[in-house]
Amino acid sequence: MKIPTIFEPFRIKMVEPLKMTTRQERAEILERAHWNLFLVPADDVLIDLFTDSGTGAMSSEQWAGMMRGDEAYAGSRSWFRFEARVQELTGFRHVIPTHQGRAAERILFSSLGVAGKIVVNNTHFDTSRANIEALGGFAVDLPVPEAKLPGLAHPFKGNMDLDRLERLFATSRAEIAAVMMTVTNNSGGGQPASMANLKAVGRICRRESVPFFLDACRFAENAYFIKQREPGFADRGVESIAMEMFACSDGATFSAKKDGLANIGGFLAANDDQLARREKELLILTEGFPTYGGLAGRDLEAIAVGLTEVVEEEYLEYRIASTRRFGEGLKAAGLPIIEPPGGHAIYVDAGALLPHIPPHQFPGQALACSFYLEGGVRTVEIGTLMFGGPDRKTGRERTAPLELVRLAIPRRVYTRSHLDYVLELAAEVAGKRRSLRGFRITEQAENLRHFSAHLEPLPAHRRPIRPQIQIHVETEEPEPVVWVDRAAPEACV
Ligand code: F0G
Repeated sequence: MKIPTIFEPFRIKMVEPLKMTTRQERAEILERAHWNLFLVPADDVLIDLFTDSGTGAMSSEQWAGMMRGDEAYAGSRSWFRFEARVQELTGFRHVIPTHQGRAAERILFSSLGVAGKIVVNNTHFDTSRANIEALGGFAVDLPVPEAKLPGLAHPFKGNMDLDRLERLFATSRAEIAAVMMTVTNNSGGGQPASMANLKAVGRICRRESVPFFLDACRFAENAYFIKQREPGFADRGVESIAMEMFACSDGATFSAKKDGLANIGGFLAANDDQLARREKELLILTEGFPTYGGLAGRDLEAIAVGLTEVVEEEYLEYRIASTRRFGEGLKAAGLPIIEPPGGHAIYVDAGALLPHIPPHQFPGQALACSFYLEGGVRTVEIGTLMFGGPDRKTGRERTAPLELVRLAIPRRVYTRSHLDYVLELAAEVAGKRRSLRGFRITEQAENLRHFSAHLEPLPAHRRPIRPQIQIHVETEEPEPVVWVDRAAPEACV
């Protein structure tokens, strides 16, 4: 007999109290933080769904690993354990530790020489895009058309558009420095890429002799989706699926703060000896010696253990099913979400919820601030505040393709009742949507402005709010992928 309740496959050994605040206190905190949730002290947050990055709880085995940490500068025991686990999982020859994912990105893009060149991705994460642009390169996103339709429940919205990739190669082969695939696709809703798509991208890159890398932060969640949804993988172990994913590519960047189940760390991995040599030279310059790369020996231990625990099926079954339940709850509370629910987070379509707030007044930020004000829950805007700003070529204000708010779920931290509280809050916030106001920026940095921007709320809207109109867009036929989602067969397309 299978009991349907999804429960946490662990018990709690150490607890941390949560601090309650009043609505009045939170209004003052928001004012002091210039309505930027990055500037709110974590102690003033009740439930922190800001990110799933570095916020997970470590297991007793990981803490034991921390105690075993060998802090030798060169060739520590912990390094060899870390290197062996990464090589076993990814199959890559060279493993280069970094203090976190973006350090791996900076070193990779510097070593590839992306100035004046294009890097293609299904969707670049903000740090990847910013690192490429800071080096004078161009970050091009080629998601499948289905990824642009928030309400469409396609199994692999993290796929890359192969036709557009072919067209880009046909017109601009000489300018393409590298192709990446972000698995799962964080900025595109935490959606997975299929093995078929990863293989096809790998084949095209090999034919064109262009290196292909995975941004593998959430590789285990992606592998589990492949197991659930892609024909031929149901009986395969998650680790073997992950190995096959890595085998499609020439290397990877990784932030261990996600599917490394660690609080800090990352790595770069590659097969190309020349590239690895250049990467190690840069690593020594800014991160550290290649056997620790900006990490303590104890961090390397925690990551090595985390990379084993994260592919355990009981863990992934709970992780993906509880995220799905949370997404369905948000929908039931009246919030439109990106369908189907992603792996590490649910993305609310704030643009659809708040049609009276135009993109340049940041509807996502309005919704995120309301979640905090009404219930002390911190979320993050992934829309025009994050991806907008003046275009480098034209100087015109860019807007994001979608105005989203991400509710990211830290790994092994919050229980079902914590998430139920958020669902009750969501219903309250949805009920107040007509009274929410947009924002304007009063101060911003040139790069990654959302981290530090100051905002202020705009005066109340006077015009009557138009009723929301659902627009159905005719798209090209989705890829002919047959899929069965065992967790929710009714969501199949
Ligand atoms: N790539 C992806 C897909 C990410 O989601 C992140 C971080 C990075 C790279 C950079 O890794 O933080 O270790 O330097 N994402 C976090 C988030 C910050 O909240 O989604 P990092």
